This record gives sequence, structure tokens and C-alpha cells, in this order.
Amino acid sequence: MKRNDIETIIEDRFHGSSCVFSAISTLQAPLLPEEEEYIHKCVLKRRMEFTAGRTASRMAMKKMGIASTAIPRGENNMPIWPWPLIGSISHNDNICLCVVADKTKYSSIGVDIEDLHRVHSELFPSIFSNDEIKILNKLHDEELAFQATAGFSIKEAFFKFQYPITRQWLGFKDVEVVVSSDKISLEIVSKAKIKNILPQYNCFCYSAKNFVVTGVFACK
Ligand SMILES: CC(C)(COP(=O)(O)OP(=O)(O)OC[C@H]1O[C@@H](n2cnc3c(N)ncnc32)[C@H](O)[C@@H]1OP(=O)(O)O)[C@@H](O)C(=O)NCCC(=O)NCCS
Repeated sequence: MKRNDIETIIEDRFHGSSCVFSAISTLQAPLLPEEEEYIHKCVLKRRMEFTAGRTASRMAMKKMGIASTAIPRGENNMPIWPWPLIGSISHNDNICLCVVADKTKYSSIGVDIEDLHRVHSELFPSIFSNDEIKILNKLHDEELAFQATAGFSIKEAFFKFQYPITRQWLGFKDVEVVVSSDKISLEIVSKAKIKNILPQYNCFCYSAKNFVVTGVFACK
């Protein structure tokens, strides 16, 4: 599947959004001066990843006809989107994904990209509840790799979705996921207060040959 096909699929899930999905190496436009301060002490890999996220964000903004501006880093690494946008950024080792959308249409968005076969069973106890692990342990091979990756990824997407609204830390076991071949959902299982301040949200999952993309969004 081509890069543009994935952008189209994601833009279709987030109606009216603008997505950029591209290799980190191709997203290396110079940072704006106010963004440099966040990464001037970082190693090259992190600089490239951060630069790709900002470059992809400005490309996505351009697709929406919005002029390039800086995207500062706020509390707890949260990107600060210029009015009237919200958005979300994710990277794996090679690819950067960014989705931006109109703040008047969406309350919040979180996206994540994760490589298949990286969420090994030794990691399950720190990511999944006992109930989630019981389900995963009944699966084999490709289905296990898909569900473990999608489950982990949607939890990270949910974190990015909820943080700009709640400003609260949530651990992996504060939420539980249910994954099937065509549907993914996520439920908050603790922190009842947070549950009450979040709007109704939807989850999506797109699975490619080597990676999974997930997203969580709430419309206004
Ligand atoms: C913050 C976190 C979700 C990022 O995920 P990751 O897989 O490590 O990295 P990704 O490349 O997918 O995403 C990184 C991007 O997330 C965004 N991000 C980071 N912190 C964020 C926050 N507090 N709110 C919103 N977005 C945030 C940033 O844009 C960042 O990229 P940048 O630093 O280049 O701007 C992860 O590091 C983390 O801390 N997870 C623990 C909490 C959690 O996931 N709980 C799950 C249950 S809700």
C-alpha cells in the first residue's frame, strides 16, 4: 500500500482532517527557532524524529490551507497546536504520522503507529490487565501479534487523546481494550473522575503488513 493510500484511509476515518504519513528521513525541513530549544541536546535519532513530527505537522496544516507556524511543546511533551487546530503525532523507527483537524469539529485526537511483533509476551504484565492477558494467551501467531500491538497502540493513542483535556497521567492498566478483526474499543477501568470529563470517543485501527495505526477521537 502506498503512503498516500494510508493518508486517505486515515483522513477518511477522521472526516475533514489532514494526515501526513511519510518516512522520517524525508521529513527533515528546518525547525523554527522556538522549536530548536526542545531538542538541541538530544541525540540525532530523537532530533530527526522530532523534526519529522514538526515537518509533517506543517505539511498537514498546509493541506488545510493553514500557514506554517511553530508547534511548541507544552506540559508533559504535549504539542501545542495553533488555533484553530488540534492534532496528534506518532513515530516508529522509520515512519512519522501526523493528523491535524479543526478544533471546532473535534474535541481531541490521539494517533499512534506501532510495529508488529514488538509487543512480546514478557511485556504483557506491564501493559495489559489479567483479563486482557487471558484473551491474548488464547491467540496464536499473527492474530496474537496483531491484537497485542493494536492493544498497546490504542492505549498510547488514548493517552495522547485524553491528556490535552484532562492533564492527567493514566497508566496502561487504567484502560482496557477489546480488539477484534474489524473493531477496536477501549474502556476506562479506573480514575472515574477522568471518565466524567471526557467526551464520547471513538477508536479506530488500521493494520498493514508490518505495522498498526490506531486512533482515538471525539467529535464536537
Ligand atoms: C506519551 C506516549 C504515549 C508517547 O508514545 P510513544 O509510542 O512513546 O511515542 P510516539 O512516537 O507514538 O508519540 C510521541 C508523540 O506523542 C506526543 N505526545 C507526547 N506526550 C504527549 C501528551 N502528554 N499529550 C499529547 N501528546 C503527547 C508528542 O507529539 C510526541 O512526539 P514529539 O515529542 O516529537 O512531539 C508514551 O511515551 C507514554 O508515556 N506512555 C505512557 C502512558 C500511556 O500510554 N498510558 C496508556 C493508557 S492511557
